[in-house]
Amino acid sequence: MESLFNLNGKIAFVTGAARGIGWQTALMLASNGAKVIINDLADSENLQTKIKDAKEQNIDLTTLFFDVSDYVQVKNAYSSIFKEFKRLDILVNNAGIMEDSMISTASEAHIEKTFKINTFGAIYNTQYASRLMARNNSGSIINISSIIGTKGNAGESVYSASKSALIGLTLSTAKELAPLGIRVNAIAPGFIDTDLVSHFSEEIRQKTISNIKLGRIGTPEDVAKAVLFFASDLSAYITGQVLGVDGGMII
Ligand SMILES: NC(=O)c1ccc[n+]([C@@H]2O[C@H](COP(=O)([O-])OP(=O)(O)OC[C@H]3O[C@@H](n4cnc5c(N)ncnc54)[C@H](O)[C@@H]3O)[C@@H](O)[C@H]2O)c1
Repeated sequence: MESLFNLNGKIAFVTGAARGIGWQTALMLASNGAKVIINDLADSENLQTKIKDAKEQNIDLTTLFFDVSDYVQVKNAYSSIFKEFKRLDILVNNAGIMEDSMISTASEAHIEKTFKINTFGAIYNTQYASRLMARNNSGSIINISSIIGTKGNAGESVYSASKSALIGLTLSTAKELAPLGIRVNAIAPGFIDTDLVSHFSEEIRQKTISNIKLGRIGTPEDVAKAVLFFASDLSAYITGQVLGVDGGMII
């Protein structure tokens, strides 16, 4: 029996993939057969070294640098994906930022920046990706939301709102795109060990871990495994869902 994880012949695009969850997701999809295009804001020596190391493990990644919050840059990126690959099968809307702020003092610039990257970026990419996917009547879009988007967190109202919006986007696009053979699901990671949360004090870190029933912080690979599930035929009959990957943080 052919593996249901098999992504051979599929083209995948992962935003914000220079590090953290996006990078691990790119490796996960590529090691299961997909041709993976990774996006981030800019190239770096560190990224090139990682790509070279991956290549030595037979994982070949293509890069496409642009700002997901810029509509014109997104549009141009999909033109080049079409030119080079002629199709798109998997989109992972992963690029995101988290800056803590109390609702009473959050600046206009912070509110706009958070929504432009976390929410508008996913909407722009979904629009162009779904057009390409519709040509083949198939596709899988995975939105990386957050446990803070499903349950909230004091001090992160703006981030929370930007991530809750991704759930609305997931539900509506799942309905709209199902007749075109495109599935849309969201993942709500809990507390995952990446640069995004590296500014947490040791006290907050330990307090957060103490709420995780499985007793440990999550890894980017824990999230990447859930992405692989939604990207592959293992989830062929699943759309419009939000999957918590949080070690039981909210049970
Ligand atoms: N780490 C966690 O605990 C956690 C929990 C829940 C959700 N998430 C979500 O997971 C996703 C990945 O986060 P991570 O923890 O790997 O963080 P990270 O900061 O390590 O990675 C985010 C990546 O997105 C890129 N990025 C930021 N703005 C961009 C833009 N405008 N265009 C293109 N790329 C951009 C960054 O350069 C970075 O490489 C984010 O959407 C985040 O909100 C993370």
